[in-house]
Amino acid sequence: MKISEKLSKVRSYEENMGNCIPDEERPAYHLSSRVGWMNDPNGFSWYQGKYHLFYQYYPYNTVWGPCYWGHAVSEDLLHWTYLPAALAPDEAYDADGCFSGSAVTLPDGRQMLIYTGVLRRELEDGTVHDFQQQCLAFGDGTEYEKYEGNPVLTSEDLPEGCSPYDFRDPSIIRQEDGSYRIVTCCATIGRDARLAMFRSPDGIHWDRGRILIRNNERFGKVWECPELFRMDEKWVILTSPMDMLPEGFEYHNGNGTLCLIGDLDEKSGVFTPQHDQAIDYGIDFYATQTILAPDGRRIMIAWMQNWDTTPGYRLDPTSWFGQMTIPRELSVRDGRLYQWPVRELEQIRKNKVAYENVYVSGEMELEGVRGRIADLEIELSNADPEEPFDKFTIKFAAGGRYYTMLSYHPADQIMKIDRKFSGSRRAIIHQRRALVPMKDNKLKIRLLLDRYSVEAFINDGAQTITANLYTDMGAQRITFSAVGAVSMNLVKYDLGGE
Ligand code: FRU
Repeated sequence: MKISEKLSKVRSYEENMGNCIPDEERPAYHLSSRVGWMNDPNGFSWYQGKYHLFYQYYPYNTVWGPCYWGHAVSEDLLHWTYLPAALAPDEAYDADGCFSGSAVTLPDGRQMLIYTGVLRRELEDGTVHDFQQQCLAFGDGTEYEKYEGNPVLTSEDLPEGCSPYDFRDPSIIRQEDGSYRIVTCCATIGRDARLAMFRSPDGIHWDRGRILIRNNERFGKVWECPELFRMDEKWVILTSPMDMLPEGFEYHNGNGTLCLIGDLDEKSGVFTPQHDQAIDYGIDFYATQTILAPDGRRIMIAWMQNWDTTPGYRLDPTSWFGQMTIPRELSVRDGRLYQWPVRELEQIRKNKVAYENVYVSGEMELEGVRGRIADLEIELSNADPEEPFDKFTIKFAAGGRYYTMLSYHPADQIMKIDRKFSGSRRAIIHQRRALVPMKDNKLKIRLLLDRYSVEAFINDGAQTITANLYTDMGAQRITFSAVGAVSMNLVKYDLGGE
């Protein structure tokens, strides 16, 4: 297999530089960029007995650049091994980036990647545009060869009225009858989102696309990284719309996320939404991708970052920037999307500490409850049923001048995350609020801490709140406080080990 100069150069760069980053300066159980920049997860798949995860990758700096595909594999979705970069922008049709895409196993055993090739061109009027088209690469799990017939889909194949500049992020599946289907983002010239669906008998020859759904200006602009799948008797679309307007407590992130639950008319290929919600209510969460695991679980991963806050970090260009969320098991219950950390996480729990009916009023710490790489399960109720508490707060990554906190006001049902004091020296967004009803007068919070992040799963995963934080590692304390009185059950584990 021929390897281009660009690909072989990046492979030696990432090997040399990636190995210089000590493990203790990376997340303990979240995948981070091998070196340099990472954005969207790509090609999340199960292939030859391992989970494969590719990602948007610009190794030469800690800011975005023309994307390569980084590559890692794992057996448990928690411990990742880097493999050599899989794709480089080294062809005439993708010279300005190998953008996001997905992976599928072919009947002959090869893995096929489908990605967006980007080409920047100056038009006659002097304006510069990115032309986007879909391309293929075939491989064995390590080496991938681009298809000589690339691109396999150009803007000519789009349904009428779609722009050639927003045609990207193909999400592929192999259907029961052996044919293939992709869903891609596309939009009008005015950038009103649509999703297109294309079909192919062999993954190579594709029919003209049809519109799966039109946004009609409702949820932001272009819907990036879309995906369509069936789960729990419903059809689900997950996507990341650019430039969203907030609606009540939904969609506060600018570049946000959207889950639509509804029905698909399989004949006409038209999706009708019945329910919409943000996927995550924290600060840093974008560009989801899912797989159907061999055991039937629908597992989602996302980029634990938000485009709006990325300029808020100033990092050494030879370090890493960008990490993925914990992979999350999905389900639909009562018309709502639920998320829960993959059960594999329970296997790396250690040093259990448990407390029951702790009376919390004012601020307190609990013996054995501290640390930055931890899994906490907390259940709260009113200590006195006659006197509901006014506020409950957990501070973590606390110490010296630092803390990040989650606080809950039962009266207005609001959960807030605040990382203003997490050590950030930039005026980026540090707070988000989510509407969280209590359930049977109880509130449950599962909190996953890693060196550079927090993920909260509330009420069995009905809401999640995700944020990264770059707090000095000396800040290890966890405190609990209440205005009024709370009764708290708590189980805490450290996470880690081989
Ligand atoms: C989403 C996105 C995708 C695109 C990729 C480029 O974060 O903008 O639409 O394929 O990032 O890196």
